[in-house]
Amino acid sequence: MHHRIIFGDSRDMVELAQSSVHLVVTSPPYYNAPFDYPGLFSDYNQFLSMFKDVAKEIYRVLAPGRIAALVTDDMLVNGRRYPLVSDITHTMLGEGFRYRDKIIWVKPKGYTRISRRSGVAIQHPYPMYFYPDNIQESILIFQKGKFDYANIDLLQEKDREASKIPIEEYNAKDWYITVWNITNVLPVKGRIEEGVAAYPDEIPRRLIRLFSFMGETVLDPFLGSGTTAKVAKELRRNSVGYELDLELEKVIQRKLKNAGIKTDRLEFSKRTDGKHLRTKLQKMINAQRTVTRKNKS
Ligand SMILES: C[S@@+](CC[C@H](N)C(=O)[O-])C[C@H]1O[C@@H](n2cnc3c(N)ncnc32)[C@H](O)[C@@H]1O
Repeated sequence: MHHRIIFGDSRDMVELAQSSVHLVVTSPPYYNAPFDYPGLFSDYNQFLSMFKDVAKEIYRVLAPGRIAALVTDDMLVNGRRYPLVSDITHTMLGEGFRYRDKIIWVKPKGYTRISRRSGVAIQHPYPMYFYPDNIQESILIFQKGKFDYANIDLLQEKDREASKIPIEEYNAKDWYITVWNITNVLPVKGRIEEGVAAYPDEIPRRLIRLFSFMGETVLDPFLGSGTTAKVAKELRRNSVGYELDLELEKVIQRKLKNAGIKTDRLEFSKRTDGKHLRTKLQKMINAQRTVTRKNKS
């Protein structure tokens, strides 16, 4: 198995040939999410334009019939809610994808990360003070045309058998319904994924098992801390990841080393369009936290 990490902007995935990847599992930046990416984009249109370019590239590099799964959520920035779920769906459709499914990822009650908006109605128990706490995200599933199921018969028997979906787990853990209850990565200080808005391993684990075969290649165009590559390794798939932020190199290296990926199976390359983001974003996040604390006291 081979794992390739490219530091550069995934609006251009020149390293990948047309139809060369079998599955895309990713989570685009949540626009200017206040506690992860404040000010990353100058405005929402810039975010949408970036995403459109990446969607075009995803369509080009994905093999016919295959799946692109995107984890995203609408985002509240400076008091205004941005409809990422709907805009990302429209963009993917505009680039030629079929809309196949939407899974709602539900996090445990009480694990809300940003603020307890629901407290407003407790302080003011009257109509119009309702602001619910958000404990869900969407997993949007798109397909490039139709899959030819005859391809499964062409696989080597050992790969086909090793790719079988674990039906006991599928039933016992409710993979088969459109609501997945999965604990999020907890915002513990000093954790390896701090400030990256990482998804838990269980999300790529289910998607990779449900939509790819052993030995195939999984792409994550917004690699972040490297979760998709780590899980691809564990499930004996190849992976390619693009990440814009050069400062995540150590994080990704650590995560993949912990997953037992040997260095001769790992290829890191840096393009000139890689950027230094993390330190700058962390400074802005800390400044925001100070303001929030001051406003509370
Ligand atoms: C939501 S995070 C992904 C987290 C990842 N799923 C994980 O588990 O760690 C989105 C990532 O996309 C990166 N990014 C933003 N714009 C990008 C672009 N144009 N090309 C490549 N990476 C980009 C950000 O730096 C960030 O690390």
